[in-house]
Amino acid sequence: MRNRVRTAIFPVAGLGTRFLPATKATPKELLPVIDTPLIQFAIDEARDAGIERMIFVSHPSKAAIERYVRDDTGLREHLCAKGKSKLADSLRDSALNADTHDIVFVMQDQPLGLGHAVLCARDHLLPGPVAVILPDDLILGERGCLSEMIAAYDPARAGHLIATMDVEPHETSSYGVLSVRARCGAMAFADGIVEKPAPEVAPSRTAVVGRYILDPAIFARLAEQPAGAGGEIQLTDAIAHGVASIGLAGFGFSGTRFDCGSKAGMLRATLHRARQDPQFDAVFAEYDLPAMLIAAE
Ligand code: UTP
Repeated sequence: MRNRVRTAIFPVAGLGTRFLPATKATPKELLPVIDTPLIQFAIDEARDAGIERMIFVSHPSKAAIERYVRDDTGLREHLCAKGKSKLADSLRDSALNADTHDIVFVMQDQPLGLGHAVLCARDHLLPGPVAVILPDDLILGERGCLSEMIAAYDPARAGHLIATMDVEPHETSSYGVLSVRARCGAMAFADGIVEKPAPEVAPSRTAVVGRYILDPAIFARLAEQPAGAGGEIQLTDAIAHGVASIGLAGFGFSGTRFDCGSKAGMLRATLHRARQDPQFDAVFAEYDLPAMLIAAE
């Protein structure tokens, strides 16, 4: 029980500058992959993993996220009255209802960094290790990434477990990269983590993506963590600080990850989902897309 992962934090307070001008009025986390906002994938992943409490760290200018996340009974009644009860049911199933779900919204008034956003959730945690899901890292697969991580999590071997994937040497400067000392199946046990290293100094090609299971000791560290790169309080720095005492491992998940914080990643995710849905076959044929996609792989 003590080691059960019961809480998930969703940091959604960032400015989303790479998607301006869209993100002037629409939070990045609500941008859709076809018809499903990024935050919905993250919520579904947490629910599938058995998370009990979901904490959304948002910003006052991003109230649309809370509106989206919460059930809208008025809209559902309207749809039912119009004979669209199937659509109403699917809205009910994807929403979070305060009567049946344990949800908390906290505000990060200034985007002081991912580490600071995670710290903002501190007063609302259930006991035990804590999951963090970055909604703009979309991971699609047979099984949710967080479910896989929770199944593999063994705090006796590593108190912090981070989703990782192998990247090309020239890509290390875009990621946190683990200094791996031993591998065992999907686990990569590490004795360090370096933020965005140049290829020639990268300790490995095992790169961090946006799913974490964190030992709760991280919160005391974050509270005294000085600002790092970009003047922001970096989660990576706080993880690196505790590596020797808490332990750190990467986890190679089975799904496919899309960097939906970037335009190219969002396009890839959209094509990936569309390709699985026959209603878009005609569109693919029109643009000769299958050939292009195969060439890109
Ligand atoms: P990103 O760095 O990818 O998001 O943070 P961003 O800063 O909003 O985007 P760009 O780079 O300007 O385009 C990953 C996640 O962490 C959240 C973001 O909302 C996103 O979901 N975040 C980031 C916070 O909640 N607070 C922060 O201070 C920074």
